[in-house]
Amino acid sequence: MPVSPARAAAFDILLRVETEDAYASELLHSGRVDRLSPADRGLVTEIVMGALRWRSRLDDAIATASSRPLPKLDPEVLTSLRIAAYQLNFLSRIPVSAAINDSVELVKRARKASAAPFANAVLRKMASAPKISPPCDFEASAENISREYAHPQWLVDRWVKQLGVEAAFAICRQDQFEPGVSLRLEDSAMEAELAAEGVHLSPGAMMTSARTLLDCPVSELTRTTAFREGRVVIQDEGSQLVAFLVGNGTRLLDCCAAPGGKTALLASRNPNAEIIAAELHSHRADLLRKRVRAANVKVIQADATQLPVEGEFDRVLADVPCSGTGTLARNPEIKWRLKPEHLEDLHRKQVAILRAALKHLSPGGRAVYSTCSLEREEDEAVVEDVLAGSSEFSLLDIHEELERLRSSGELAWEDLDSLMSGQYLRTLPGIHPCDGFFAAVIERR
Ligand SMILES: C[S@@+](CC[C@H](N)C(=O)[O-])C[C@H]1O[C@@H](n2cnc3c(N)ncnc32)[C@H](O)[C@@H]1O
Repeated sequence: MPVSPARAAAFDILLRVETEDAYASELLHSGRVDRLSPADRGLVTEIVMGALRWRSRLDDAIATASSRPLPKLDPEVLTSLRIAAYQLNFLSRIPVSAAINDSVELVKRARKASAAPFANAVLRKMASAPKISPPCDFEASAENISREYAHPQWLVDRWVKQLGVEAAFAICRQDQFEPGVSLRLEDSAMEAELAAEGVHLSPGAMMTSARTLLDCPVSELTRTTAFREGRVVIQDEGSQLVAFLVGNGTRLLDCCAAPGGKTALLASRNPNAEIIAAELHSHRADLLRKRVRAANVKVIQADATQLPVEGEFDRVLADVPCSGTGTLARNPEIKWRLKPEHLEDLHRKQVAILRAALKHLSPGGRAVYSTCSLEREEDEAVVEDVLAGSSEFSLLDIHEELERLRSSGELAWEDLDSLMSGQYLRTLPGIHPCDGFFAAVIERR
């Protein structure tokens, strides 16, 4: 029997995420998904993101119904079970028979026909068991938050310790739902242009340059002329705030630039400056060239620790590769993939990039170090290690920088203290209307 195109696409994407370390959000924007009907596109996105967000709860339900331990199952079998488990437990409009039959067919389609009767038995048992109950009144401890909101406990333990139990709770709850879509407009006249094409926006909550997409799928936006011409970009408000912290200069260096959200903002705020945007990976450097077409931006494919650039820069952005734990609502697979030992590797890389970035800074110039990670090893600890014992560089007070953005009208958010963690910027999902970002502003004396 043929499998519905949405479930077949969801299976292929989830299997690649599981076995090839691919990113679901990238695969969901592939040509294959674009060619589906709007309803199927909606369903594939719902199943893929839902199955990743709620994975540990789905696995508990599968384990209860299964005669075999989950680690013994082939990834193809486990993936089809998760797809059906998500639909049976979280989607009310899907007929039980469609969810089960398609998953059993997916097992056969993956050449695991001998496991089809097993999958059928597990799913029928699960369908007659009580549904997974949504998180409600429970005592907020790391263990309970981790179980109810499907996060690995080691991560929740860290957040409870570093940020407090309330913040950890808010982050985990926020991670489980589709986040809003934020945009950056080059000028507010574009709002009328988008409205004429049926895309309506509400003001951003933090940045005056930001707007939030109102009741319309992202595909409606990406179809508009303004989007295709790059005059409106999808960009989280926290990412916009970090780029605004870089400020104005005459020569700017963006060390880790792809896909270019921040580079584009720097270019629009510094139209007369020379901007060099570096990216390590060639396919990402190509993407950056495609996305950022401003004439004053030169894209180079290079390692930020050994940049082939001459002279000094008065503004430097080091938006380094990181674990991405501030973006789990958009990239839920990260929480299952990340291991505590990865943080040490990331720390080493980040220290090397920031050290190298500061060498390009002119006296009196400013560098912004940023991540979309909530982890101390990637954030404060990197800045502390790099600045330790240095009399050449100093950390600027983030409150003054935020005040500057408020008085120039760029930052609309009033509670500046809530954006600060010591001398650093720290936004938290579920507490601020954006992903989790960290930033430090460093000056060369
Ligand atoms: C957090 S992302 C940057 C996001 C970007 N600033 C934006 O706002 O769209 C980090 C980027 O750094 C790149 N990267 C990783 N290691 C690098 C290195 N050693 N040198 C330069 N780029 C690097 C990654 O490929 C990735 O594209």
